Amino acid sequence: MTMLILPGLVDAHVHLREPGAPHKEDILSGTRAALAGGVVGILDMPNNTPPTVTADALFDKQRRFQRQAVSDYGLFLGFDGEHLDPVLRLAADAVGLKLYLDETFGDLTTREPEALARLFEAWPGPGPVAIHGESPSIAMALALARRYGQRLHVCHVPHPDDLLAIDAARQAGAEVTCEVTPHHLFLDSTALERLGPYGQMKPPLVSPDDVARFWERLDLVDAVASDHAPHSRAEKEWAQPPPGVPGLETTLPLLLGAVDEGRLSLERMQSLTHHGP
Ligand code: DOR
Ligand code: ZN
Ligand code: ZN
Repeated sequence: MTMLILPGLVDAHVHLREPGAPHKEDILSGTRAALAGGVVGILDMPNNTPPTVTADALFDKQRRFQRQAVSDYGLFLGFDGEHLDPVLRLAADAVGLKLYLDETFGDLTTREPEALARLFEAWPGPGPVAIHGESPSIAMALALARRYGQRLHVCHVPHPDDLLAIDAARQAGAEVTCEVTPHHLFLDSTALERLGPYGQMKPPLVSPDDVARFWERLDLVDAVASDHAPHSRAEKEWAQPPPGVPGLETTLPLLLGAVDEGRLSLERMQSLTHHGP
């Protein structure tokens, strides 16, 4: 038996469900799940109810985390296309700004070109602008990041070819980081038949060939992030199931399995789960 002592994982993309839907998860259960999975720090997304797009919402969420979290944490702000000035004033209180450029769970999709351009121009950091988007939206965000010299983080890269677009933008001088989820590395679309609604998430699972390309291009990836997104069993079994899968407790065992099989070095695993995030 081998004993490993590793630095704690940092998961840069989770959706704990508080406020708004504590029947799916609350801050205590979510941060306990993190610790159980070897994750000592999480970055939480803003698509709550109410969404984290105002000072009131951000400070309320901060107070809840201060009271209940048992892991380290950082909170993303969101942008609904309207509250630009408050969001800019809050930049130093958040780990970054999350933009939803395509539809997903929640109500935060913003596609208005002028609002996006103003945001890419004005966001002061220090955290990056992070995006949820399909491939065409990623191309648009890469162009905005280059145009305005804005630091960009591409969440849950949906397709391995997006990694090539990210690489090209980096070569052209853009400051871009990106993450891939465990479900895009360890599951493929052939699992949908078996998993039904439990295999539905955004971005969706990709073909076995594309999973292989994700692994081939893993050098271009900064972090593995779970996109931990629990829903209740009843909700998943509705006719229109919400997208999302939990992942806080499965990322580390999956990656260690890959290390054991020789598909990933232990050093690289640590860079993807600790140093990268
Ligand atoms: O599958 C997903 N679920 N993708 C997202 O972007 C949002 C998440 C959620 O909050 O349920
Ligand atoms: Zn997303
Ligand atoms: Zn997400």
